[in-house]
Amino acid sequence: MLTDVNYNPNLPVPNHIAVIMDGNGRWAQERGLKRTDGHLEGLKALKRVVIATHKMDVKVLTAYAFSTENWKRPLSEVNYLMGLPKVLNDEILPDLIENNVQVRMSGNFDKVPLNTKKYIQNAIDRTKDNTGLILNIAFNYGSRDEITKAVQAIATEVSKGDLKVKDISEQTISDELYTAQLGEYADPDLLIRSSGEVRLSNYLLWQLAYSEMLFTETKWPDFDEKVLQECVGEFQRRNRRFGAIDTK
Ligand code: FPP
Repeated sequence: MLTDVNYNPNLPVPNHIAVIMDGNGRWAQERGLKRTDGHLEGLKALKRVVIATHKMDVKVLTAYAFSTENWKRPLSEVNYLMGLPKVLNDEILPDLIENNVQVRMSGNFDKVPLNTKKYIQNAIDRTKDNTGLILNIAFNYGSRDEITKAVQAIATEVSKGDLKVKDISEQTISDELYTAQLGEYADPDLLIRSSGEVRLSNYLLWQLAYSEMLFTETKWPDFDEKVLQECVGEFQRRNRRFGAIDTK
């Protein structure tokens, strides 16, 4: 679908790319492997994509690693996914550190097992002074859950008398979302979903209001620098108007 689109290093790249890393299970099943093998390959693909986005001078990569709905999967698969932050620490973190990547997390940690949290926190702590690409891992993340929590926080401020209803702005809401930690890059410029599925699956619903969206047939474990360049090449050909008209 995107194969003839060339990425031009001299044109602007998206500051923030969000990815839905879909297709791990199907990729594994096609090869007679276990679904969890697909997730492990997916983690390796994420490492490739992090290094490639870093090379392109993208500022933030937000990766959907575990959604608030993924708890509905079989326990063995959930447990495997909860173990991936340890694999990230053991096998990928050194490369991330070498590439000056900062690891961050967006999500609701209340239900995340302690051991999983420990590895996530370790990756955040060990990369906190890095200054390159932010790898923002969406873990136990759900956009409706995030917006609900924001509404609760704002309503609490109003009920205490610390905030007037008339002063609630779009920025007030953005400031209460997990992505507030990304500052000026909170909203993705480009969303990529792999594996041919065309839906948002409760991902960054507020933040994607003006993002360009790209859906590729490539299953996530096959995603690499070349596919990323094709996606960014397509982004560079888009004409973003943010609701205004083209004045060129
Ligand atoms: C969706 O594919 C993928 C997931 C639910 C997990 C994605 C996780 C990774 C790629 C590893 C990254 C992990 C960390 C901790 C950074 P699917 O299983 O729904 O695929 P299918 O639609 O083919 O079944």
